[in-house]
Amino acid sequence: MLRVEDLRVYYKTLSGYVRAVDGVTFTLSKGEILGIAGESGSGKSTLVNYIILPKPPMVRIAGSIVYRGIDLTSITPGELSKIRYTGISIVPQYAMDALSPTKRIRAIIRDLTRGRAEGDIEEKARERLRMVGLPGDVLDRYPIELSGGMRQRVVLVISTLLDPDVLIADEVTSALDVTMQRAVLEMLASFRDTGIVRSIILVSHDIAALYQVADRIMIMYAGKISEIGPAEEVIGDPLHPYTRALIDSVPRLGVRYKTRRLTGLKGEPPRLASPPTGCRFHPRCSVAEERCRAREPPPARVGKRTVYCWLYTGG
Ligand SMILES: Nc1ncnc2c1ncn2[C@@H]1O[C@H](COP(=O)(O)OP(=O)(O)OP(=O)(O)O)[C@@H](O)[C@H]1O
Ligand SMILES: [Mg+2]
Repeated sequence: MLRVEDLRVYYKTLSGYVRAVDGVTFTLSKGEILGIAGESGSGKSTLVNYIILPKPPMVRIAGSIVYRGIDLTSITPGELSKIRYTGISIVPQYAMDALSPTKRIRAIIRDLTRGRAEGDIEEKARERLRMVGLPGDVLDRYPIELSGGMRQRVVLVISTLLDPDVLIADEVTSALDVTMQRAVLEMLASFRDTGIVRSIILVSHDIAALYQVADRIMIMYAGKISEIGPAEEVIGDPLHPYTRALIDSVPRLGVRYKTRRLTGLKGEPPRLASPPTGCRFHPRCSVAEERCRAREPPPARVGKRTVYCWLYTGG
């Protein structure tokens, strides 16, 4: 469905490049929900925004993004905007707070689907709203008249009205209480299960939330992948020292690791304007060796997983 290969996206700033996404490779399969987790500032939003909403000061240094045989990095902004909403739709982080306050939901939908929608889009919107437990008269309301959970569901309904192949949802559950989080996650899974969307990329710093719906999980650290693989394996038996520390720091998940006496996460993530040499996690890693400081770990296959750590390279 989607293949991202060695993608490097930096921010150009007055004091140099910020290496926010630095050599990321993964695929998204048909029917799959891929969860992307990682601490704040690890490059999650930069990665998913660049896929379908690239804009300055983001600069692509290398890499490709192939969707249905088309390299999205080589087409014009006009061609890319045709794929947005219909092929790949994104709900950017904070999107629900960015809804125009002076427009009713109906007008927001009309603006967004103008010239692209077939049939009665309003009727379709009403039906989808009903599907996610919202009354049809939401269309007559202003965003400010909706609760956070309602607004988030409305944003997700709007973003998927044109039945995109891929939905990218960035931190859509973060601002919600636990009950509403569950409702939104169930809604996403039902969008996939009913074929409204084919595949989903779900970004969250909340690894426990991802675990509820993701088929595979990708963990990012300082602009790179540390580990990617089936959700149960990554959460149940994390391999990368960073993944272990991250999961250990989540009480709901970490309880299983009590006996392992992990040291947890000390220190701060690195500044991406001048990241550490070798493995970017080495300054915080309790098992780092000389080679971790000197050279970047190559990807290592462990079963269905790919791990970027020297421990698993077999050398
Ligand atoms: N416009 C910008 N100019 C320069 N640096 C930026 C810009 N936007 C983001 N960054 C930097 O890029 C890095 C990655 O940021 P990004 O927002 O992608 O992280 P994230 O994983 O989505 O974090 P969060 O969990 O807080 O949403 C951070 O170091 C951030 O400071
Ligand atoms: Mg983000």
